[in-house]
Amino acid sequence: MNKERKLIIAGNWKMNKTASEALALVKALKLELTNIKEVDVVVCPPFTALAEVAKAVLESNIRLGAQNMSEQGNGAFTGEIAAGMLKEFSVRYVILGHSERRQYQKESNELISKKAHAAHAASLHPIVCVGETLAEREGGQMEKVLETQVRGSLAGLTAEQMDDTVIAYEPVWAIGTGRTATTAQAQETHAFIRKLLVSMFNQAVSRRVRIQYGGSVKPSNARELMGQPDVDGALVGGASLDARSFSEIIKNSI
Ligand code: PGA
Repeated sequence: MNKERKLIIAGNWKMNKTASEALALVKALKLELTNIKEVDVVVCPPFTALAEVAKAVLESNIRLGAQNMSEQGNGAFTGEIAAGMLKEFSVRYVILGHSERRQYQKESNELISKKAHAAHAASLHPIVCVGETLAEREGGQMEKVLETQVRGSLAGLTAEQMDDTVIAYEPVWAIGTGRTATTAQAQETHAFIRKLLVSMFNQAVSRRVRIQYGGSVKPSNARELMGQPDVDGALVGGASLDARSFSEIIKNSI
C-alpha cells in the first residue's frame, strides 16, 4: 500500500496477560512479523509485563508502548508510574487519554495534556486518544466533542513535539463492540481532525502527524480502513491479544 505517512499499528493489551502470557504472545508475534519493515509495530502490555516483553523485543522490529503514565515525575503518588520508570524498559510510546480512562478514571483533557507534556519531556511518543460516544454522534455533537478533545489534550505542545505525537481516533461506540466505523466515517473524521491540526499548528504538522483508527479493527477490515488516505494506522484492542490476528491485521495493511 502506498501511503503518505508510514503506518503505525499498535496493540493495546489493556488489563490482559500475565507476564508469562505476555512473553508467549510477543514471542509468537516476533516469529510472525520478522520481515515487516513497512509498518511501525508497537505492543502495549500491562506495566507488570513490560520487563519481560522489553527483553523479548530487543533487536526486533517490535517497539514497546505503555498504556498510561502519571503526569508527575516522581513523589508521593501511590499506585502511579512515571515516565522515567517506563524509559528503564525501553518504552518508546505511551497511550494517553484512552476512552476507558476518560470514562472510568475521569481523565480530563487538561490532565491528558499534562501527561503529553511529561511524556515529551522524557522523550516518549504519546498516542493521544480521542473519540465521541454514540449519543454524541447521533446528537450532532461529534465535531464539537472531537475539537474540544483534540485542542484540550494537545494544548501547549509545540510543532516539533507534534511530529513525535500520534493521535488515535477511537469512536467509543466501536470499541470492543464488534461495530466498526465504516471506512467513509473513519476517513471523514480523520480528515476533520487533520484539518483541525492546520488551525492549531500549521500545514506541515497536519500533513506529518499520524492518525490511527481504533475500534474493532480486525484482519477482515484492516485493509479497507488502512486504505483511506487519512488513516495512518490502527490501535487494536481485542484482536491484538492473539498473535495470528494481530499479525494478519499488519500483513493485510501493507
Ligand atoms: P478494540 O479496542 O479493538 O477491542 O475495539 C480498541 C481500543 O480500545 O484501543
